[in-house]
Amino acid sequence: MDIIHEMITEKQITDKISEMAAQINKDYEGKEIHLICVLKGGVFFCCELAKRITVPVTIDFMAVSSYGSGTGSSGRLTVKKDLDELIEGRHCIIVEDIIDTGLTLSLAKKMLLARNPASLNICTLLDKPARRVTKIEALYTGFTIPDKFVAGYGLDYAQKYRNLPYIGEVEFIED
Ligand code: IMP
Ligand code: MG
Repeated sequence: MDIIHEMITEKQITDKISEMAAQINKDYEGKEIHLICVLKGGVFFCCELAKRITVPVTIDFMAVSSYGSGTGSSGRLTVKKDLDELIEGRHCIIVEDIIDTGLTLSLAKKMLLARNPASLNICTLLDKPARRVTKIEALYTGFTIPDKFVAGYGLDYAQKYRNLPYIGEVEFIED
């Protein structure tokens, strides 16, 4: 068993999501939003965010991962599950759990932009800017965190802890 040290409480998270949704509602007034949830980590955040959005919303899901070169945005994107729907002409927001090196999102964004959405912004619950290797910024960021490995609220360590209602730093315990 690992030890999880609570870093961001459930109330802090839901308060922040309400703030982010209020900003999105303002920014997208009169438009329809197409949320692109990045599986699996973005799922908990995406649901709570979508519940608080008051302009018309549709939701689609994709699962992607990247294999980096270590420097720059020259890594490769693996699409494990692509979107079900076309995004051409739609106002899209990518909903992600965390931006770390930024490689996954910069590659995913490039792929999606080639499909000609009306607009494409990024909304992330967490940002870990210390480890960034590409220039990518989210328009909406919940919490900026230090360079620690965290789990909970959708984020996993070896597929565990996604169900924790809070976000905590993982202290790895050797067997
Ligand atoms: P990036 O391409 O380095 O930005 O990778 C981001 C992905 O790595 C996220 O979508 C997460 O799935 C995973 N990741 C990065 N940092 C953490 C962490 O602290 N805990 C859990 N997953 C993480
Ligand atoms: Mg992820």
